[in-house]
Amino acid sequence: MDLSGPSFPSLRLRRLRQHPVLRDLVRETTLDVGDLIQPFFVRPGSGVRREIGSMPGQFQLSVDQLLREAEAVRDLGIRACILFGIPDSKDPEGSSALNEQGIVAQAVRALKRNLPDLLVITDECFCEYTSHGHCGLLSERTGRLDVDNDRTLEILARQCVVHAQAGADVVAPSGMMDGMVRAIRAGLDAAGFEHVPILSYAAKYASAFYGPFREAAESPPQFGDRRSYQMDPANSDEALREVALDLQEGADMVMVKPALAYLDIVRRVKDRFQVPVAAYNVSGEYALVKAAAERGWIEERRIVLEVLTAIRRAGADMILTYHAREVAHWLR
Ligand code: PBG
Repeated sequence: MDLSGPSFPSLRLRRLRQHPVLRDLVRETTLDVGDLIQPFFVRPGSGVRREIGSMPGQFQLSVDQLLREAEAVRDLGIRACILFGIPDSKDPEGSSALNEQGIVAQAVRALKRNLPDLLVITDECFCEYTSHGHCGLLSERTGRLDVDNDRTLEILARQCVVHAQAGADVVAPSGMMDGMVRAIRAGLDAAGFEHVPILSYAAKYASAFYGPFREAAESPPQFGDRRSYQMDPANSDEALREVALDLQEGADMVMVKPALAYLDIVRRVKDRFQVPVAAYNVSGEYALVKAAAERGWIEERRIVLEVLTAIRRAGADMILTYHAREVAHWLR
């Protein structure tokens, strides 16, 4: 019997594609608002709602406006957000990141007081706070000016403790320092925050897709680039080593970033480790869709749902995405 061609009746795959209900029943991947994490950019002041040029529909918000926005997304069914801070002043040490009155600490306290059910994740990094725009303290220990890994670990752990004290539900270190998860876990535990999980940006690539974010967070490096700490986009095995190390050091969840050009990495991580995996659908991915949609070149809604479903299909349990709000609206 020849089972190879479509002439053998049981091999007709189109049979399950005829009826919309049947298509729903056999669908392998779901996309739910409960899978989405909304990023917010928060800055000092009040009444501030400043649209980000390269990210239409995304804003730098003062705390009062953040509360309004967060309530709106919460009412649409989004249950988690991640905060990025833009401080009033920057210095070479990024010292405002360690201040209990710092912008992210203030925002966390306000969110937890007003919207206690919304899960608040804090991004833990120094590029938004340093005058040079790099993700930690600089030194010339290696013979050229570069981020000093081990000195940065100390302040990273302190930054996480400040945010945990303010009420952050999850801390998410994004600086790609070696040993950051171990240092943060030790710091949190010593301060009595054993219960606060770490979502590590474990496989974070040195990507051109972060361009719009750096406008949004006012954090472009003032010299050089981030290739001495973020990963080479050409590497895949190395991502597995990054994830393995972070898990050994105590990461509770791991992230792959960006998402769309790195779906193979998401899949490899999920297949290898079976831990909760997040994918970050980053600013450049958002900007590409928005720009093409503005010109009427693509069907925005279908594209966004297809992209996010594909990220889920690749193995992501959760997705950080600037599309969260509109998706929540569409899926209602
Ligand atoms: C901070 C950080 C960045 C992003 C998230 N956390 C920027 C960077 O590494 O330069 C990018 C997010 C995005 O592009 O949406 N280290």
